Amino acid sequence: MSKSKSIRLSVVALVGTLAAGAVFAQDARVAQQIKYRQGAYTVLGAQFGMMGAMASGKAPFDANAFRVAAERAAFMSTVVPDVFPAGSDVGNTKAKADIWKNQAEFQKLMTDLRDKTAALSAAAKTANNVDAVKAAFGAAGQACKACHDKYKAD
Ligand code: HEC
Repeated sequence: MSKSKSIRLSVVALVGTLAAGAVFAQDARVAQQIKYRQGAYTVLGAQFGMMGAMASGKAPFDANAFRVAAERAAFMSTVVPDVFPAGSDVGNTKAKADIWKNQAEFQKLMTDLRDKTAALSAAAKTANNVDAVKAAFGAAGQACKACHDKYKAD
């Protein structure tokens, strides 16, 4: 083999290795983005679990605990719009690819979530019984469902 051919082959091999490494790094980054997303929703979902137990009478109404959960849910609702970077629709995720095709509608559902959880948090600030938060809690739950029905796989 001539020296220049051998160098050329080495360069081809090196570029191939770098490309494979880049693909691997890309996969790892996407997996991390998905984990972060699911973690963010787990935190949001946990707040709804606590509030739901009180709203349905399974747990006694605790105004302070409800207010804290509602504040946390409102905050998490400002985080979740940012956990859908392009390309994070592949891998261990239930996020449907349509999210990235229908960005306008998807972001509208996110805005609705943010508005409804903000309203719930506002209602919880002054609530001293469960009836004062039931309607706002139901409306926020509907915002979750509207998006899950269309954009989250079962
Ligand atoms: C605008 C869309 C949208 C809204 C609004 C929304 N979700 Fe989701 N949610 C998703 C998508 C998409 C996934 C799937 C994420 C994945 O698997 O990568 C998800 C996943 C979840 C998960 C599962 C997390 C896990 O363990 O993998 C929970 C719990 C959850 N959402 C709770 C909620 C609650 C509670 C609300 C309302 C307060 C809500 N979501 C509102 C789109 C939404």
